[in-house]
Amino acid sequence: MIPSINNICCIGAGYVGGPTMSVIAEKCPEITVNVVDINANRIDLWNSKDLNNLPIYEPGLAKIIKNCRGKNLHFSTNVEKEIKNADMIFISVNTPTKTKGIGAGKASDLKWVEVCAREVAKYATGHTIVVEKSTLPVKTAEVIKNILENSNEKQEENNSTFDVLSNPEFLAEGSAINDLLDPDRVLIGGESNIAIMALHNVYRNWVANEKILHTNIWSSELAKLTANAFLAQRISSINSIGAICEATGADVREVARAIGTDSRIGSKFLDSGPGFGGSCFKKDILNLVYLSNYFGLREVANFWEGVVQLNSWHQHRISELIVKKLFGTITGKKISILGFSFKANTNDTRESAAITICRDLIEEGAILKIHDPKVNKYQIEDDLNLEEHSHLLSKDNFKIQRDGAWIFSEDIMDSFEEVDAVVVLTEWFEYSKLNWEIISKKMRKPGWVFDARSIISAKDVINSGLKLWRIGDGSID
Ligand code: NAD
Ligand code: UGA
Repeated sequence: MIPSINNICCIGAGYVGGPTMSVIAEKCPEITVNVVDINANRIDLWNSKDLNNLPIYEPGLAKIIKNCRGKNLHFSTNVEKEIKNADMIFISVNTPTKTKGIGAGKASDLKWVEVCAREVAKYATGHTIVVEKSTLPVKTAEVIKNILENSNEKQEENNSTFDVLSNPEFLAEGSAINDLLDPDRVLIGGESNIAIMALHNVYRNWVANEKILHTNIWSSELAKLTANAFLAQRISSINSIGAICEATGADVREVARAIGTDSRIGSKFLDSGPGFGGSCFKKDILNLVYLSNYFGLREVANFWEGVVQLNSWHQHRISELIVKKLFGTITGKKISILGFSFKANTNDTRESAAITICRDLIEEGAILKIHDPKVNKYQIEDDLNLEEHSHLLSKDNFKIQRDGAWIFSEDIMDSFEEVDAVVVLTEWFEYSKLNWEIISKKMRKPGWVFDARSIISAKDVINSGLKLWRIGDGSID
């Protein structure tokens, strides 16, 4: 008989665990959903009264939290208790790239997943369905099952038994709530049809039957890595074409439109930008590279590694051309940076192209004024590994500054004061509405605008007397 799920525990209250469980709680009022995390600070933020203080920014999330929190949705650090009570446990912890040891720089670090599996083995009671929500290398389910069944921490008196399912998450940050409410598909991989149907029935509360795909567990794990690899590959492909456009007088937007109308190619994910960021594309491709090498498939590994290499080259290419256009030197020059998150509508900065580009410009001696509507100054300090030089806000101090530095711009209009250039790195909507007439008057001349997202009006910028470079646009000089 297919068990009905009454109590879900999700281990990991991050960008995936938080929104995913909120949507399950909203759509399944009869299920109690407990989200647990070892990071007490993060849990406090999930429980904060002021919904503007939630640990992640995601449109539509605060409303769901308001509806469900304290009713059937709870956030706590009580991992042991919630594992004990659960009949289904989602593992939604981080799986970053290993920084040392075998596979360093490519393989996923599974230490957090392993800790979770050991905790589940220790505390679970009765029959529990364990669901891999984290993105994992193929065959991880085997490791989890092994730990669950053989861990010496397992308590005999708990009479615990387990099924392991793979249910990768395909949400994109910034549109996570919509992606969860109306997914293209839900993928469930597993060996036991009964366990698969138990999870299927949870999703059936709001997802159509035909959108819930069942596969074997290895296909499910590999499909997640493959989806991210294909998406990232499209971005590297269009960015590589953008570079050719700049060299030849073509315009990447026109090329994208022309190829996107071919229904076999499709029009999505063809926006040339400053290079893909986010916590997953690079990590998941490198994981694929590691797996390919592990199985002796060197050509396959090289093929996918090229996607990451092109992305990195592309980001440095942008920094270099900024320096070139500003007469070959930016030492002591002030540059306004618009946007630091890796894409709009999120406060996430992991692997953001802005980190690489800002580091390059600071290294060249520039003084950056960085603005982002959702990223705070401490996050930027962390990412650049450099303290904000707030003393530079005094004009006299600017003159004596020799090394590159950066200042946080609270007020966007202040960030244009006396700058030689404005660089748009994130496609926040508010940047598309800027008044270039007013901005131009504040800037030092000749002033440049570098639009790495194609979101501002080229006509307005040029009419205001500024020079413009636009990603992939060889038609303007
Ligand atoms: P995250 O870093 O935001 O969150 C992970 C959380 O797990 C952290 O808060 C951490 O404290 C917690 N954690 C780690 N070990 C724990 C333990 N033993 N017990 C309790 N809590 C623990 O990560 P994320 O962005 O939510 O990603 C999670 C997984 O989902 C990754 O595998 C990622 O590849 C995948 N994924 C992410 C996204 C995305 O948009 N961020 C989308 C799809 C899939
Ligand atoms: C991506 C995938 O889209 C999700 O399906 C997946 O679940 C997730 O990774 C994951 O596994 O973490 P996300 O990284 O949140 O989601 O955001 P995307 O919208 O995919 O954007 C990734 C990067 O590509 C961003 O830096 C974005 O600016 C860039 N991008 C995207 C472009 O440069 N051009 C485009 O046309 C699209």
